[in-house]
Amino acid sequence: MKKIVVILNVIFIVCLWEACNENPKKTIIASPNSKILITFSIENGKAKYQVSKEGKNVICPSSLGFSLNGLPDLERPFKMKNATYSSFDEIWEQPWGEEVQVRNHYNEMKIELQETNGEKRLLNVIFRAFDDGIGFRYEFPGQENLKDFEIAAELTEFALPEDYSAWSIPAYKGEYYEILYKQSPLSRLDTVCSPLTIETSDGKYMTIHEANLTDYAAMNLYPLNGSTVLKTDLTPWSTGVKVYAQTPFVSPWRTIILADDLNALVNSRIMLNLNETCKIEDISWIRPAKYIGIWWGMHMEKYTWSQGLKHGATTKNVKAYIDFAAAHHIDGVLAEGWNYGWDNDWVANGHEFSFTRAYPDFDMEALSKYASIKGISIIGHHETGGATINYENQLEDAFRYAKKYGINSIKTGYVNQFLDKKERHSSQYGVRHSRKVIETAAKYRIMIDAHEPVMPTGLQRTYPNLMTQEGVRGQEYDAWSKDGGSPPEHTTIVPFTRGLAGPMDFTFGTFCFENPVYPQTRVQTTLAKQLALYVVIYSPWQMASDLPENYVNQPAFEFIEVVPVDWEKTIIKDGKIGDFVVTARKDKHSDDWFLGAITDENARNLKVDLSFLEEGKTYMAKLFCDAADSDWKTNPYPVVIEEKEVNTETVLDLFLAPGGGTAIWIKNKK
Ligand code: NOJ
Repeated sequence: MKKIVVILNVIFIVCLWEACNENPKKTIIASPNSKILITFSIENGKAKYQVSKEGKNVICPSSLGFSLNGLPDLERPFKMKNATYSSFDEIWEQPWGEEVQVRNHYNEMKIELQETNGEKRLLNVIFRAFDDGIGFRYEFPGQENLKDFEIAAELTEFALPEDYSAWSIPAYKGEYYEILYKQSPLSRLDTVCSPLTIETSDGKYMTIHEANLTDYAAMNLYPLNGSTVLKTDLTPWSTGVKVYAQTPFVSPWRTIILADDLNALVNSRIMLNLNETCKIEDISWIRPAKYIGIWWGMHMEKYTWSQGLKHGATTKNVKAYIDFAAAHHIDGVLAEGWNYGWDNDWVANGHEFSFTRAYPDFDMEALSKYASIKGISIIGHHETGGATINYENQLEDAFRYAKKYGINSIKTGYVNQFLDKKERHSSQYGVRHSRKVIETAAKYRIMIDAHEPVMPTGLQRTYPNLMTQEGVRGQEYDAWSKDGGSPPEHTTIVPFTRGLAGPMDFTFGTFCFENPVYPQTRVQTTLAKQLALYVVIYSPWQMASDLPENYVNQPAFEFIEVVPVDWEKTIIKDGKIGDFVVTARKDKHSDDWFLGAITDENARNLKVDLSFLEEGKTYMAKLFCDAADSDWKTNPYPVVIEEKEVNTETVLDLFLAPGGGTAIWIKNKK
């Protein structure tokens, strides 16, 4: 990653150090554009912060601190021992992403606190004010009176000024974030996962999340006694302890995006900026990709992961998938169910998985040669059933084995309510495990797609081999979920909630809407919406998830063949969370643009201006639209494909059917 500009300065717009430094009680920092202010204060010995934007409180005075097991709480009485200020401004380039160039521009204040009685322990809080929000983290300096400690609770609050509406999923009711989002007032939230996206009463957006989750527990939030004060809840270990730590120690960053509109929300890079710079020196092997896989067949019960007559990952089937990929500009083929471990109840017996022994009807050596001749990558699969100890014991061997057969990408999985029968995925235990996998994979030059992950927090900046993750109710639910599948509004919500935490391996691409096994369950979109999702939902790996035979002789498949997976620029042109989204993205490797528009269960006519196109240029747009009588429920198949010349002055009239969408490829005519 190339740093283009690095400017360090220590000039501040506002910096207030009250009471002649004798006993300072309050200090303020402003964002570079001066619109956002963070005020830190000591009130009755308690450390508090407050945030305002353009003169309006967005976070009212909110407490900071910790409760520790077996030790006095680290939350009062504090004095401000010192405060230091600095500024930072750089533009860095992402190796892949929704945009190439990212500006990291902030003013920082570091507050050094000390208890005024007892053990006189030390705690620092570092605040960063960006133009699009804030971040802060705790630092526990090395000190005589605090060495090994256990966090019983993080006392960080986010006191919202009004009972705004928020989109959330509950934290402990269902695993790995595979739940439909619900809108409710803040005061009526359950204990919910972050990111938590809030719509303010004046039509603006805030998202509370975290960045750089390292050796800590994931953050959840709950309203204090039905109020609008959100308290932090950390996912516990089975012992009840939240975090085991030793000074010196830092917490993850707590982040708050403050956005005037959905475009600003999606284009905020606070989370990435608060992660460390790339630790992988040579990243030439890290590549965004499109893939197909022996996958939907299992979810639709055509195939099995286990051995037997319906075994899916056979040499013959995988070869056929490789042939299809090679003929259709698809980079990779995922093969699930290739290895020993699936034959019994694999969720209960994850320890039986081997990551170095292929089933006899899966000839790894022959497939590796065949794939290489055809120029296709095989994507490995490591389902662990949540048995992380078994996986860690084999990790190095597993990656060595993969590399031996030319496998550079692996999809991991942790299907189980608990890891190793007792720990939660988002606990410090799960966080430690997932980091170990990412780091070890980097050592072997392997890219990772993690399913059943810990909620992402921007680690791909440091480890860009962490390509994509699940952590969302993806398309597999539309194969078998008893509730009938995800309602059409789901995909109009996730780009602004889970999507803000990082790429989602959602796996759309359905072209056949019949479900012979679960007729009451289905993909609740039109075919045109399936195409539009490749633009609306971001991931550097995108799957064409349907069975290859369903793509044969389908003119609409052209869109999946041409849609890029790496972008120079992203614009949310229009949208309303839960109703509709219009996203435009510019290809990183050409002058082409792509546009995806999707709607919920309601049909919609939208006017979309193409003002983002370069002035003076003419483009040929190829539109893949719903027909007048398309409907996700009754008539999902019709796609009208048309071409028209467009330029920066063009305003398109789009019709989106119920559960429908439009996908557009805007080719630069040169
Ligand atoms: C759940 C994953 O999300 C899915 O993609 C995978 O096929 C199964 N687990 C089996 O590993």
